[in-house]
Amino acid sequence: MIFNTLIFYVNGKEVVDENVDPEWTLLWYLRNKLRLTGTKLGCAEGGCGACTVMISKLDRPTGVITHLAVNACLTPVCAMHGLAVTTVEGIGSVRTKLHPVQERIAKAHGSQCGFCTPGIVMSMYALLRATPKPSMRDLEIAFQGNLCRCTGYRPIIEAYKTFTEEWETMQSISKDKERSLTNGGCPMGENCCRKVRIAEPTEIFDSNEFHPYEPTQEIIFPPKLHMS
Ligand code: FES
Ligand code: FES
Repeated sequence: MIFNTLIFYVNGKEVVDENVDPEWTLLWYLRNKLRLTGTKLGCAEGGCGACTVMISKLDRPTGVITHLAVNACLTPVCAMHGLAVTTVEGIGSVRTKLHPVQERIAKAHGSQCGFCTPGIVMSMYALLRATPKPSMRDLEIAFQGNLCRCTGYRPIIEAYKTFTEEWETMQSISKDKERSLTNGGCPMGENCCRKVRIAEPTEIFDSNEFHPYEPTQEIIFPPKLHMS
């Protein structure tokens, strides 16, 4: 028996299509059939990352769900059968609430023309879904496929390093230093050079303004795909 119905999920909603051209890419389908234009068309050949979305897949023998960032411009939509796709529209918006991944890149000035931003956001989002506490090395690897012609990358990395293990360690060390200085830890008192350094803001954002990232609040893998 030949099955010719494509069934998959996009941002938690089921898509059923009996009339799919096997030549359609996932990017074409998202933008033209579902009108989800947040995912951008840049190079159309896997080089720029503007079309990045997350796909989630259940490994039936083990019951493990894997999350992966993919280039939608290279992915045939027919390959999505039985999978869940998440696009930038599915994680948050200014009308509802920004996801911390969106909020942090905005507050750290990591988006200028904004064309690369949905792809960069989705690369970070997929990394967090796969590894809720990534390392700086994980971060560097996750962004190998995303190009940005405006920002020079620094504000993007500065924003997203706040999700890493190293950032948490650095934060607790500087809090300890601050505490010890406040308690008179240096004989130079007010003239202590470290105190001056800590008092001068060197960051391009105030991380205290960031909403915390809460992995348990993420969209769940569609229960129907567990059974089909
Ligand atoms: Fe450039 Fe897909 S559009 S990688
Ligand atoms: Fe313009 Fe990245 S913000 S390409």
